Amino acid sequence: MNSTKEDIVLLAIESSCDDTAAAIMVNGKIRSNRVATQQVHEEFGGVVPEMASRKHQLNIIPVVDIALKEAGVTKDQLSAVAYTQGPGLLGSLLVGASFAKSLAIGLNIPLIGVDHLHAHVMAHFIDAPSPTFPFLCLLVSGGHTQILRVNSPVSSVVLGQTLDDAAGEAFDKAAKMMDIPYPGGPQIDILAKEGDKNKFTFPRSKVSGLDYSFSGFKTSLLYYLRDQLKENAQFIDLNKKDLCASVQNHIVSYLLDKLMAAVDETGIREVCIAGGVSANSQLRKDFEMLGKSQKWSTYIPEFQYCTDNAAMIAMVGHFYFIEKKFQQQHVAPYARSNS
Ligand code: KG4
Ligand code: ZN
Repeated sequence: MNSTKEDIVLLAIESSCDDTAAAIMVNGKIRSNRVATQQVHEEFGGVVPEMASRKHQLNIIPVVDIALKEAGVTKDQLSAVAYTQGPGLLGSLLVGASFAKSLAIGLNIPLIGVDHLHAHVMAHFIDAPSPTFPFLCLLVSGGHTQILRVNSPVSSVVLGQTLDDAAGEAFDKAAKMMDIPYPGGPQIDILAKEGDKNKFTFPRSKVSGLDYSFSGFKTSLLYYLRDQLKENAQFIDLNKKDLCASVQNHIVSYLLDKLMAAVDETGIREVCIAGGVSANSQLRKDFEMLGKSQKWSTYIPEFQYCTDNAAMIAMVGHFYFIEKKFQQQHVAPYARSNS
């Protein structure tokens, strides 16, 4: 690539959980976006943190190398390195942070720390059309569920959030109870396509305001399956597709009802969904239909920008670069969000 001093050429690294990702962004446009997924956790039914860190160490150099080559960018053309500072698994974050810091020192370029949740929201700015500020965002991932009022590229307020499990966790735990292999969310989505979503119903937690709770649902599913299995050991196998469709419907309708309440409360009709669970086909479809019926402007991220990726880290990095929001080398990663 031919570049001038004025070009903003970013390498972004994401390593908060079990995917090692790298992306190159030039002047706000994605040139490459690579993810190495770790299969090693499948046999354990969930992410094993120590194994995730070790795999990140093995994957990070090849993934960065491929991202640079695919973009036709050389290391000396980079303007800055952006990386996920948190929240996430500390060991995993440390691999990305150490790599980004070393590269920034070695190339004598700025370092940009990015919040993973903020990046999921800002994924909406990777390709047009993007929402206009202020907008609402339902952020649904494996570790977080929040409704945010997003005021600008660098400022947002949490209006509501889960008091216990995240929506993605609810999907994954329900899947585990039904012997569906990890990661369960996407598998439930596939099985639900052929199931009856109204066959089983579950109690909805009565949490006030715009907050959520999924722990009551999880317990009721656990006890329901336990009781049914006592009567018929084949119950789950015989009803798997209907169970998946009903679980998915329960989670999606609960998410959207609170989102609708947020629109009513704020009067903001620019509305997005983001995070891994925004890849769910029923959520995408129902959200779009709801938006049409309520006359909202709705925004759904491209599939590749829903689950963890480095393009979204690069997008925040781009906004921070313009604002010269750079980081010192001593800043540490954080495991938990402070919102
Ligand atoms: O954003 P993400 O990739 O990682 C975190 O930041 O947590 O989200 C991962 C979560 C997992 O719980 C996964 O099961 C869920 O997103 N997920 C889905 C689908 N694709 C990913 N849940 C339901 N349906 C899907 N199609
Ligand atoms: Zn994520």
